[in-house]
Amino acid sequence: MDKIVSLCRRRGFVFPSSEIYGGLGSTYDYGHYGVLLKNNVKARWLEAMVQEREDIVAIDSAIILNPRVWEASGHLAGFSDPLVDCRTCKLRFRADKLDDAACGRKPSKHPGETPDCDLTEPRAFNLMLQTRIGPVEEDASVAYLRPETAQGIFVNFKNVLQLARRKPPFGIAQIGKSFRNEITPGNFLFRMREFEQMEMEYFVPPADAEQWYRYWVEERLGWYLRNGVRDSHLRVRVHESGELSHYSSATSDIEYLFPIGWSELEGIANRGDFDLTQHTQYSGSKLEFVGDGGERYTPHVIEPAGGVDRALLAFVVDAYDEEIVAERERTVLRLHPRIAPVKAAVLPLIPRNADMVSHARALYEELRLQHMAEYDDSGQIGRRYRRQDEIGTPFAFTIDEQTLEDETVTVRDRDSLAQERLPLSGVRAWLGDALARPWKTPK
Ligand code: GAP
Repeated sequence: MDKIVSLCRRRGFVFPSSEIYGGLGSTYDYGHYGVLLKNNVKARWLEAMVQEREDIVAIDSAIILNPRVWEASGHLAGFSDPLVDCRTCKLRFRADKLDDAACGRKPSKHPGETPDCDLTEPRAFNLMLQTRIGPVEEDASVAYLRPETAQGIFVNFKNVLQLARRKPPFGIAQIGKSFRNEITPGNFLFRMREFEQMEMEYFVPPADAEQWYRYWVEERLGWYLRNGVRDSHLRVRVHESGELSHYSSATSDIEYLFPIGWSELEGIANRGDFDLTQHTQYSGSKLEFVGDGGERYTPHVIEPAGGVDRALLAFVVDAYDEEIVAERERTVLRLHPRIAPVKAAVLPLIPRNADMVSHARALYEELRLQHMAEYDDSGQIGRRYRRQDEIGTPFAFTIDEQTLEDETVTVRDRDSLAQERLPLSGVRAWLGDALARPWKTPK
């Protein structure tokens, strides 16, 4: 993980948030390449969930909802972690994660393992972040930053049913920020207090719920594979009955082999009719489907819920590679070209050569009309290639002496390092084709 954090920092993907003030625990800011990468992750998700389907529509609900939403959803009462305090070292730990934590006095031991440890009984600690609405500091003004995007979907069920004229099976997809006052944050982007989720609630006739649950587990696993994550680093883990969330009758996690071990990347849950029934009860608004023939029922819900930041971390971890080329070490991010933040670099071989520079600038300006491209004329060509390798740019186009003679350029492939010559006038079309080709990691 240290290498990943260091690369992300060095190349301006991710910075600790409010760093000049010493940071704020487990919140991060995305720099230029991080923003581009994150936007690509979200774009691929929206493509797969909305653009390429007819049965799912998008929504963007508010972050702060009526607090009654969280009463109905069960988050106020039940969205908590069990906490223990150590009276000796004054640190606080998650009771169910003591094996992952270090004792405050003897970090080689876990809390509770030394005779000096004096742990309290576990207490439930609600993970929702509170805020206040309006000018008066009173209990009635308390509101919450949403801990999941899902509830903004459920409370809009009726709007979508009526206005988008959908009938089950249909889905509503949302990408947006969620907030959790995590007690044991850490591990970089894996567990943050402010993060982004990509969630989709799929409303189905109750009798079909099991079949759609299995469908979405496969579909979501396929999405990570199609976007370049290695098969051997992904697995599906079915939750034991004791670990299911309060709303779920079945959940499968898609797990990724992070540097911290196999951990949840995305959860697919069968939420049954829990949410629509609860909101019907608390709001008085009947959330059900009424068919043309008058049949009525409360749809069941299958929910694939992923994290943007966690997916981004998995893509970067999976792509990270070091190798020796011509006796020199190179670090390369072998990202799927459609996920990579920059698609093409344009490099004049000799930056002092005005003809090469003008050819390169013209090509760069042409390519950037369609793709995220970069022009770079600073430093040795080898160093410029390595910079692009580290941010995962799949193709680099170099303008050299031969370009000035015959209007061709070399294209260098990030993964194989193979170089081929192309007519300058065909680069734009070549790049479009290359980015559309299926891609598999050479690792
Ligand atoms: N609506 C269901 C739900 O929120 P979850 O398993 O708690 O389920 C879904 O969250 C996904 O959101 C997780 O699989 C993970 O990718 C991401 N996620 C959850 N908590 C996170 C955190 N503290 N930091 C980063 N990502 C998180």
